Amino acid sequence: MGESREDYYRLLRKVIEFRPQITIDDGCDLVSEIHKSHPELVSSIIGGCEETTTGVIRLRAMERDNALRYPIVAVNEAKTKHLMDNVKGTGQSTIDGILRATNVLIAGKNFVVCGYGDCGKGVAARVKGMDANVIVTEVDPFRALQAAMDGFRVLPMAEAARVGDIFVTVTGNKNVIRVEHMSLMKDGAMLCNSGHFDAEIDMASLGRYPSRRIRPFVDEYAVEGRRLYILGEGRLVNLVAAEGHPSAIMSMSFCNQALACEYLVMNKGLLKPGVHVLPHDVDKDVAMLQLESMGIRIDRLTGEQEKYLSSWEEGT
Ligand SMILES: NC(=O)c1ccc[n+]([C@@H]2O[C@H](COP(=O)([O-])OP(=O)(O)OC[C@H]3O[C@@H](n4cnc5c(N)ncnc54)[C@H](O)[C@@H]3O)[C@@H](O)[C@H]2O)c1
Repeated sequence: MGESREDYYRLLRKVIEFRPQITIDDGCDLVSEIHKSHPELVSSIIGGCEETTTGVIRLRAMERDNALRYPIVAVNEAKTKHLMDNVKGTGQSTIDGILRATNVLIAGKNFVVCGYGDCGKGVAARVKGMDANVIVTEVDPFRALQAAMDGFRVLPMAEAARVGDIFVTVTGNKNVIRVEHMSLMKDGAMLCNSGHFDAEIDMASLGRYPSRRIRPFVDEYAVEGRRLYILGEGRLVNLVAAEGHPSAIMSMSFCNQALACEYLVMNKGLLKPGVHVLPHDVDKDVAMLQLESMGIRIDRLTGEQEKYLSSWEEGT
């Protein structure tokens, strides 16, 4: 905690001084800084890779506006990344962060998960297993339906705000929890973010209210007669108050990053500027390597089965 956005951008500028040929980014900050402030570097860059959902969303926006000037592999889209890192990694480490910061009992609490994407699914499944009453807020009807069919209560934020004891944002969006929601919350409600940067809880508006640090990573805010507890200054609680994802998760993400760099080098000059997916075979290799490291073997299709699955004449 304590590192400001300015510190972060100072670090980015240091990275840029190395005149990277491949950019490895987590949130598209490096790529957007290069495009905005150092376009002279673009011609020497072979390509880049992007680690997380928010970064991919921004890159697709750049691509749509014809602003993206070199190819980027969306490592986040690899199955061995988002189905493991976002679901299992964020799922577990978010709870780890909350527990380390507060030692709160999860059982019996109304636990609000804002956003039912990969990260939200991971968090919701874990707190359900810890006997919380899980409530999901969403803006996407398919995701909301999925949450309801997975057995969770789905509510708009204004209603969830009144009943929640613990809130976690994992949307990649900004100001998902605003003062208008906070002023409806129960005295003693706990709020944290495990989505993007410090953007998901409206910390700027909250800053107008009196606050005091009551223990490491926990700030108490007095908001309209109620005490609200913000964990980790609204930054990613799993990184601030815990250790992020276990290495078994990160090894898969980094394996994808390394293989994406190799793919970019092998295809130098052949990939158009834009967002590219990591080839399926590379993703599959990472899955096989991970299984191997876990001592797990799987079956292979027989020749007869392969033929059957690729045929339109047989079995109909
Ligand atoms: N803490 C970590 O270590 C970690 C790890 C991986 C990803 N992330 C970040 O977590 C965020 C979510 O990632 P994801 O892969 O789950 O994304 P996702 O796109 O799969 O899911 C996000 C969900 O949030 C919903 N949403 C958007 N705005 C909302 C709003 N105002 N209210 C309620 N729901 C809303 C979307 O409809 C979507 O279903 C991203 O910012 C990603 O970069 C964090």
